Amino acid sequence: MIETNLDQAYNLRQMMSKSRNPKIITVASGKGGVGKSSFSVNLALALSAMGVHPMVVDADFGLANIDVMLGVASRYNVSHFLSGEKTLEEIVQTGHGGVRFISGGSGVMELINMDDQQLQDVLGGIISLENPADIIICDAGAGITENIVQLILASTETVIVTTPEPTAILDAYALVKTVVQRDCTHTLDIIMNKCDNKEEANRVLDGFLNIVSRYMGKHVNALGFVRYDRAVEESIKRQTPLMLTQPEGLVARDIKAIAHNLLNIPIDPASSGRLSRFFSRVFGRN
Ligand SMILES: Nc1ncnc2c1ncn2[C@@H]1O[C@H](COP(=O)(O)OP(=O)(O)OP(=O)(O)O)[C@@H](O)[C@H]1O
Ligand SMILES: [Mg+2]
Repeated sequence: MIETNLDQAYNLRQMMSKSRNPKIITVASGKGGVGKSSFSVNLALALSAMGVHPMVVDADFGLANIDVMLGVASRYNVSHFLSGEKTLEEIVQTGHGGVRFISGGSGVMELINMDDQQLQDVLGGIISLENPADIIICDAGAGITENIVQLILASTETVIVTTPEPTAILDAYALVKTVVQRDCTHTLDIIMNKCDNKEEANRVLDGFLNIVSRYMGKHVNALGFVRYDRAVEESIKRQTPLMLTQPEGLVARDIKAIAHNLLNIPIDPASSGRLSRFFSRVFGRN
């Protein structure tokens, strides 16, 4: 069983490395409710503003909510692709801010119980999309299920979202351990969400990174932190991402800094026009 799953992850990675396909970033956590979906949507908008073309895949299959966060009543989701009614290209929708996304379907039992083959079909399909995006952000569900681990192992890198709560930290640690046991070379990043301030974020992040390094010999990249702000909840109620309603607010600034760190570029607001032109060249657009 494990060998079959490892083979699948290997096949998917092979498909990715052979193609000129985009970077696939999975956002995962272990613990639920830490802010993966809000982060995924706002990260996509931050990348868009930098001239990068993102696509969000709601990989919380069967319990998806990215469409609601982007103000769209979804017509199609992954189940229409699996049933053969639609191609993956045909189920791509556009939400607020022009963010393109694929809905993972809500309340669809067969998606909640997706088997290995179906998961591989979906991931393989995403990887092979014609000109989909520069960066595909896969918003995973909570927990450390085999499907989530498969998604992580098939991705280019994984951003683990946690909060300073010990329960969230423990689950993040368990997720890192699971991934490292399966593929110790997989690139792992971490962000600390819902922090009171920078000092708290850095203290908890440093502690986490030290323990992971000492007990697993694994380096996890700290991409940054996002402060707690009730405006995030308000933006979900209004079905319009915070990056659009409060683009200069604290949370938006924190997420923009993370987007820069993810692409490994320094933050310089004055350079946004240059950045946009730079990414157009890097990703081969006019
Ligand atoms: N930085 C933040 N400040 C305040 N509240 C936040 C922040 N980030 C997320 N939240 C709130 O936390 C709750 C959970 O957010 P979200 O749905 O994004 O988490 P999730 O990890 O995707 O959850 P699930 O595991 O159920 O998929 C929401 O009510 C959201 O408004
Ligand atoms: Mg979610």
